[in-house]
Amino acid sequence: MAAKKRAWEAAAEEVRRWGEMKQTGVSLRYMMEFGSRPTAKNLLLSAQFLHKELPIRIARRAIELENLPFGLSHKPAVLKVRDWYLDSFRDIRSFPEVKDTNDELAFTQMIQMIKVRHNNVVPTMALGVQQLKKDLDPKVFPKDLEETHQFLDRFYMSRIGIRVLIGQHVALHDPDSEPDCIGLINTRMSPMLVARAASEDARGICFREYGSAPEVEIYGDTDFTFPYVPSHLHLMVFELVKNSLRAVQERFMNSDKDVPPVRIIVADGIEDVTIKISDEGGGIPRSGLPKIFTYLYSTAKNPLEENFGVNDGVTMAGYGYGLPISRLYARYFGGDLQIISMEGYGTDAYLHLSRLGDSQEPLP
Ligand SMILES: Nc1ncnc2c1ncn2[C@@H]1O[C@H](COP(=O)(O)OP(=O)(O)OP(=O)(O)O)[C@@H](O)[C@H]1O
Ligand SMILES: [Mg+2]
Repeated sequence: MAAKKRAWEAAAEEVRRWGEMKQTGVSLRYMMEFGSRPTAKNLLLSAQFLHKELPIRIARRAIELENLPFGLSHKPAVLKVRDWYLDSFRDIRSFPEVKDTNDELAFTQMIQMIKVRHNNVVPTMALGVQQLKKDLDPKVFPKDLEETHQFLDRFYMSRIGIRVLIGQHVALHDPDSEPDCIGLINTRMSPMLVARAASEDARGICFREYGSAPEVEIYGDTDFTFPYVPSHLHLMVFELVKNSLRAVQERFMNSDKDVPPVRIIVADGIEDVTIKISDEGGGIPRSGLPKIFTYLYSTAKNPLEENFGVNDGVTMAGYGYGLPISRLYARYFGGDLQIISMEGYGTDAYLHLSRLGDSQEPLP
């Protein structure tokens, strides 16, 4: 611990300097155009860009992690996350200038390792926030936690950006990438197909937890495609369908009425592709609506407390992260997520995805 502390102080000055430099954003369209020619020269340029850009983004997060309100910065889980950011900052800063293809390959391997190091940032931060929530006077909660909530939004949004940059660079090296794929982007992604796969995954978890799962019906044009990152869409639809299945399941589990299906409609507009996910799970009370996009609100038991380290991390509900994180993914490429509820009947989630792909990356 003492050695870590000294290391942090020595690096602090450099981190501060980098944290003040300007970040450079990319758009989906830019990534697609650049990535369509993954020549050795372009990969070299991309690595050189990341060598400068990643430490700027990482330094900002490390600084913020040091200065959180209510002593959140001192929680063991948050210190652990901070150390990951610090280690990654140092790994990149100590990597010499990327001059040729050999350097480029070594650099790519190193940033891929950084991506893996940060795999568990979200549940680890969630644990830190839970630890904080426990010690806080109930009166502080939840209005004064607004600042913490905004920090988490910035923090997770930035994490999405960093992972897209690394993921895209690494994926451009893949020799047997799918025909229509440019790195992480599928230029002909079918939202219907992705929605179907994500719904089946969510139903699988529902089966595991409840022994049965409501049907999911999907309506739209199967042939319709547009460029997007399928893993992002999968994640968002998975989270929304999981919420719907849980609500329907809880409402109809002990009734002899027919279980109503969850309905998904995919609409292809000119500006947006909108995916509506409708359920008859009884909705959300209006008083609860302002809380559903916060990182501390869930009506499920917290899996971190229940059996942290025992389960594989995938459950029907419990972290209170599904909606806020999905909205960040939607906003990352210029889309949005809205939830409309009719208490006593059900919920509609509107997931808007920007079709143009030219919206600038949010840079918190
Ligand atoms: N379709 C829905 N019907 C009824 N309530 C919902 C629906 N979607 C969300 N909610 C309410 O909003 C809360 C927050 O949802 P969110 O997905 O952010 O977290 P969670 O489902 O509790 O946990 P997880 O992080 O595992 O998703 C839920 O606990 C639930 O009370
Ligand atoms: Mg959820």
